[in-house]
Amino acid sequence: MGRGLAALALVIGAAVLCAQASAADDRLTDAQRLGRRLFEQSCAICHTKPTLASGLYAPALSRETLGGRTEVIREVISNGTPRMPGFKYYFGSNETDAIVAYLQTLAPLEGNAGRKQ
Ligand code: HEC
Repeated sequence: MGRGLAALALVIGAAVLCAQASAADDRLTDAQRLGRRLFEQSCAICHTKPTLASGLYAPALSRETLGGRTEVIREVISNGTPRMPGFKYYFGSNETDAIVAYLQTLAPLEGNAGRKQ
């Protein structure tokens, strides 16, 4: 009985977690969702940490990146930096907009592993 109950609690817990995850997803607009997909495909390799042990090549991004100035962020995405490729021939302007919109949904990380501004 104890075991069955524990298993049931786990299943319910997992269901609640899933529901929360999809609720968070639903709060994104279509543009933000597109931006997240593009970010995961093209930016996450450098801008997120694949594992706890690995380092971060580029600063973690959030709504506070570059003071949240969307024009400057678009500029970096389009033209790149000395250590980052530019994406202007890769993304249309609505795709760049979508990525910028997605970045605005990211809270700054606690103990941000990226470079301090
Ligand atoms: C090859 C690795 C790489 C990829 C891929 C990459 N970046 Fe970067 N990015 C960097 C590095 C490194 C920096 C830090 C600036 C520098 O050192 O030149 C940076 C800086 C930035 C900055 C400015 C951050 C700051 O705080 O100054 C933004 C915004 C940014 N990247 C967005 C993106 C987006 C959006 C994508 C995907 C479309 C992307 N990057 C893809 C490496 C990358």
